Amino acid sequence: MNDFVFHNPDKVYFGKDIMKNLPEELLQFGKKVLMVYGGGSIKKNGLYDLVKKLCSEHGIALFELSGVEPNPRHTTANKGAEICKKEKIDVVLAVGGGSTIDCAKGVAAAAVIASGNVWDLVSTGTWVTNALPVVAILTNAATGSEMDGWAVISNMETNEKIGLGGSALIPRVAFENPEYSYTLPVYQTACGAFDIFNHVLDNYYLAGDAIFDMVLEMQEAVMRAVVKWTPIAMAEPENYEARANLMWASSMALNTILDAGTVHGCACHAMEHELSAYYDITHGHGLAILAPRWLEYILDETTAPAIARLGVKVFGLDENPDAMDGAKHAIAAVSDFCFRTLGLQSTLTDLGIDSTHFRAMAEHACGGGEITGLKHLAPADVQEIYKMCL
Ligand code: NZQ
Ligand code: ZN
Repeated sequence: MNDFVFHNPDKVYFGKDIMKNLPEELLQFGKKVLMVYGGGSIKKNGLYDLVKKLCSEHGIALFELSGVEPNPRHTTANKGAEICKKEKIDVVLAVGGGSTIDCAKGVAAAAVIASGNVWDLVSTGTWVTNALPVVAILTNAATGSEMDGWAVISNMETNEKIGLGGSALIPRVAFENPEYSYTLPVYQTACGAFDIFNHVLDNYYLAGDAIFDMVLEMQEAVMRAVVKWTPIAMAEPENYEARANLMWASSMALNTILDAGTVHGCACHAMEHELSAYYDITHGHGLAILAPRWLEYILDETTAPAIARLGVKVFGLDENPDAMDGAKHAIAAVSDFCFRTLGLQSTLTDLGIDSTHFRAMAEHACGGGEITGLKHLAPADVQEIYKMCL
């Protein structure tokens, strides 16, 4: 177990009756708000009208940046930054899923630099300590962006999708009403759920020399919740308990509580970001295709006990005295969850992806070194894993 600092200043309102607190939380930063949202889901579920009404009742001037893409583009964030500078915006309000919240963070960071170009920060790996405050209203249980200090921004001209991190990017306040996720399509529910699962899986069993058992158990609890509640949310979109468990799991998976004392791992995420950078696919789907292959690839005597434990603790498999055999069953359980329970297509070929860019993607995923994880991955390993996904 390693030393660590835990500091997450995000104030979370969770539940059904929370929106009445929005005006007061926005007003602590000022009266000029830029609302950032995506392609229109918030207009269909009434959230857009509600935010407008609450703001107008409290004398808040609301500006808008709409049309944030899934896999949000730096160009869209830059448009928001321009509005912020021109209108002297006090706070950026994200209303939507991870893409919208990430874009809002990009807006908030770019708004306080001279160039107004978020890519200047992303491409230089700048740690963001200064940005406009961000408030988030979450509509999709998935990325954890509502409670973390990361924004994943895409530059489609250069086929790059890169995380921008910084303490100033953690939302100051997050509103999480599970009811706002009732309207999610089944596919997005499944992809979001696997994203949550994978945030934990990428970081599973990485506590360093000595195992920090309590964190391990907490990680398993979050993964178990995803396995239990996702099929229910898919079958009954308005099941509050299912949506609530998934939404809080989303926030817990990446707010660094489950990182405490561990070495942060990012195997599937580093590989997936290349897939969405090149092919604009849905993040959680890419992860679901990669995860079982990754586990299969890294399986050996050193990793077998950890993978076998995943099977027992998360999927309820029987303890197996043979760790290798137990691990194989665990991988089969992950596969079954992704492709049968979640109903996701199982190969990159299904998504129209071939091996053309695997070499470049693998090099970029490793960033000139190796990807940290249960087993470190070099570019040649990553290429092999991509091939296993065809
Ligand atoms: O754009 P709208 O109309 O809002 O529709 C969205 C979008 O089409 C829709 N949606 C969201 N909430 C809905 C809804 N539709 C109906 N009802 C609702 N309640 O779902 C679609 C996908 O939305 P998006 O925000 O793209 O999904 P998600 O939350 O999965 O975010 C994915 C992005 O976050 C990044 C991913 O790489 C990807 O770019 N990530 C961000 C992370 C972070 N900030 O820490 C970590 C993650 O690992 C991830 O990389
Ligand atoms: Zn993710």
